[in-house]
Amino acid sequence: MVNGQSKYDIQAVRKDFPILDTQVYGHPLVYLDNAATTQKPHQVVEAMVQQYYTANANVHRGVHHLSVVATDMLEQSRETVRRFIDAESAQEIVFTRGTTEAINLVASSFCQQEMQAGDEVIISTMEHHSNIVPWQLQAERKGIVVKVIPMIDEGFLCMEAFEELITSRTKLVSVAHVSNVLGTINPVADIIRIAHAHGVPILIDGAQSVPHMPVSVRALDADFYCFSGHKVYGPTGIGVLYGKREWLDRLPPYQGGGEMIGTVSFEKTTFNAIPYKFEAGTPNYVDVTGLAAALEYVEKIGMDTIAAHEAELTHYALEQMSQIPGMRIFGPMVNSQRSTVNDVRGSVISFLVGDIHHLDMGTLLDRLGIAVRTGHHCAEPLMHRLGIEGTLRASFGLYNTHDEVDALVAGIRRVSQMF
Ligand SMILES: Cc1ncc(COP(=O)(O)O)c(C=O)c1O
Repeated sequence: MVNGQSKYDIQAVRKDFPILDTQVYGHPLVYLDNAATTQKPHQVVEAMVQQYYTANANVHRGVHHLSVVATDMLEQSRETVRRFIDAESAQEIVFTRGTTEAINLVASSFCQQEMQAGDEVIISTMEHHSNIVPWQLQAERKGIVVKVIPMIDEGFLCMEAFEELITSRTKLVSVAHVSNVLGTINPVADIIRIAHAHGVPILIDGAQSVPHMPVSVRALDADFYCFSGHKVYGPTGIGVLYGKREWLDRLPPYQGGGEMIGTVSFEKTTFNAIPYKFEAGTPNYVDVTGLAAALEYVEKIGMDTIAAHEAELTHYALEQMSQIPGMRIFGPMVNSQRSTVNDVRGSVISFLVGDIHHLDMGTLLDRLGIAVRTGHHCAEPLMHRLGIEGTLRASFGLYNTHDEVDALVAGIRRVSQMF
């Protein structure tokens, strides 16, 4: 760090993202909605354009040149994902539409085979709807029971209560690595260890972790881990489900169609090997190329560098925002040592100011060119727990700067004064 600024060349990085030059209502765009989706560097867009221009053909099914090239690209990208999250084998990487589809896949296949009526899945108070509703659908269909780890007021999961929730009927735990509302970095290594000590496998929703910190599914010993491409500077419509080989081998397919089969007759169908068993139909291979380009892009900067930059920025923002009269920040407050920010809080800051409605504040910030998210952030049960209807949420990415935090803080002050 030099004068509180991270040493990495952020201005050079920002040049890779043409959209950051956008003007909004005569102001430079300050894009602080990265938890919803991130902007794309030209390297990602160009990788996809190049594939459409030079290597577009349906994969796996052709002997012709272009099909072979496209298939090789798909499988190389799978290897890139494997390396990025440190899985043991590329066969453990299933491409999905995103985190949501990955969780639905596990909910559907796992519940179909591994769960009976009365069996339990444990989620947490701070889950995104996409890690709540798929289990509720299974509760309706199969009579499984959904149990919820409570949260203490400071925005941490109550670990004692978690262990007490586990019974002989608990078949799976499914929790977020990082909360998309509170920024809390959950102690997933401990959660996994406890679950495993009871013989229970675990799914981690990595939608808000993979873009912001190094993740090793092997070090964590996660059974399933998923994330979305568009939150890690990649394209929309593509995501990843990692599953340990023994689980993917064991679970039944999620959807039926081309590519997921071994042989088909009207009497009986056999299924393909993993990961293809879970990838029915033409895969989204061009977006896979974009995802791999995005992962290579962030790898080049370095996930440690990104994490350090965002932690420093978050710390600075928390410090500055705390000084605004009427400011209420949700989630863990860490203001002693910078280094600890990284351990418990990601780069998401949800807040309210006085009794100003979040929608009003968000709309007026937008007039100043500042893009923040407003609402319940697809976490209505968490809003109920906090006793609020919604928040504003600023979330940082690798290209955000101290000047942008200053613009946010000045914007909040200005809007507050208007009320
Ligand atoms: C923690 C968390 N889980 C799941 C999702 C769903 O991701 P997607 O809509 O990309 O499937 C999100 C998206 O905001 C999220 O923040």
